Amino acid sequence: MNEQQLEAGFVGAGNMGQALIAGLVRSGVHPESIGFAEPDTDRAATLRTLFPGLVLLGPAQLAGRVRTLVLAVKPQMLPELAVDLAAQVAAADPLVVSVAAGISTRRLGGWLGPETRIVRAMPNTPALIGAGITGLYASPLATDADRKTADRLLRAVGATVWLQDEEQMHAVTATSGSGPAYVFLLIEAMTQAARRLGLDQATARQLTLATVGGAARLAQESGTDPAELRARVTSPGGTTERALTVFEESGLAEVVAQAMAAAAARSRELGG
Ligand SMILES: NC(=O)c1ccc[n+]([C@@H]2O[C@H](COP(=O)([O-])OP(=O)(O)OC[C@H]3O[C@@H](n4cnc5c(N)ncnc54)[C@H](OP(=O)(O)O)[C@@H]3O)[C@@H](O)[C@H]2O)c1
Repeated sequence: MNEQQLEAGFVGAGNMGQALIAGLVRSGVHPESIGFAEPDTDRAATLRTLFPGLVLLGPAQLAGRVRTLVLAVKPQMLPELAVDLAAQVAAADPLVVSVAAGISTRRLGGWLGPETRIVRAMPNTPALIGAGITGLYASPLATDADRKTADRLLRAVGATVWLQDEEQMHAVTATSGSGPAYVFLLIEAMTQAARRLGLDQATARQLTLATVGGAARLAQESGTDPAELRARVTSPGGTTERALTVFEESGLAEVVAQAMAAAAARSRELGG
């Protein structure tokens, strides 16, 4: 790396940008090798306090000085920003990693320039605590080394899954991108129901959170099919069986399928 060049640069250091910067620093990249552009001066100051040495630059300067340029602004800001960065990106030729929901590599390439090497990423909010999962898609011009670079960046905040077909990004958005909200909804509903059954709020919440987290860990760590795990806790004539019958009769699986199809359809609409 020459003196001027930075390992990675983040345009937009909001929730996702900050989570990724934190992940990189945790994985051993020195803050002095990381640049960022952030119009909110208070936020920029906070980041430089959290990660001393972090280099604050304007978006265009950043694009000209980084090996990997991470675009982490809201999707609606991206068209104008990308067009503004096109000349620097063409000159410096960084790998561009976009985390903007719904923006295809084709559209991004249209704004940044047709030669741009792009990896598109769809992380989710548990990335904020290093427990995310990210769907990744590399545009045809991206090299194996680019894929490895993007994988390392996103693995610093959780697991990664590579897609062969960008169209699948809508399904990823509907599953893991929006998915944390579905789980929060379940947590809210279980907590409320537990209160109706006579528990206080704190106890209801503690039991629910530990159950959701514990069940997810059991399914992951045992490697056993969730249907089998469910069968094992469902004794004939018992309490779990009674509850599951209510879920089945109310068509829960179909409701989940409809909700996720609606999320995927919205993702398509937003992608234009
Ligand atoms: N949060 C998630 O769970 C999640 C999941 C998947 C994908 N994403 C994607 O990640 C991206 C960022 O989301 P977020 O939740 O981190 O949003 P956010 O917290 O609003 O962060 C965006 C940041 O970018 C800054 N910004 C705006 N325009 C800029 C510009 N021209 N140059 C430099 N910085 C600029 C904003 O500053 P101001 O506040 O001053 O405008 C803000 O600090 C979005 O595209 C979203 O689709 C997020």
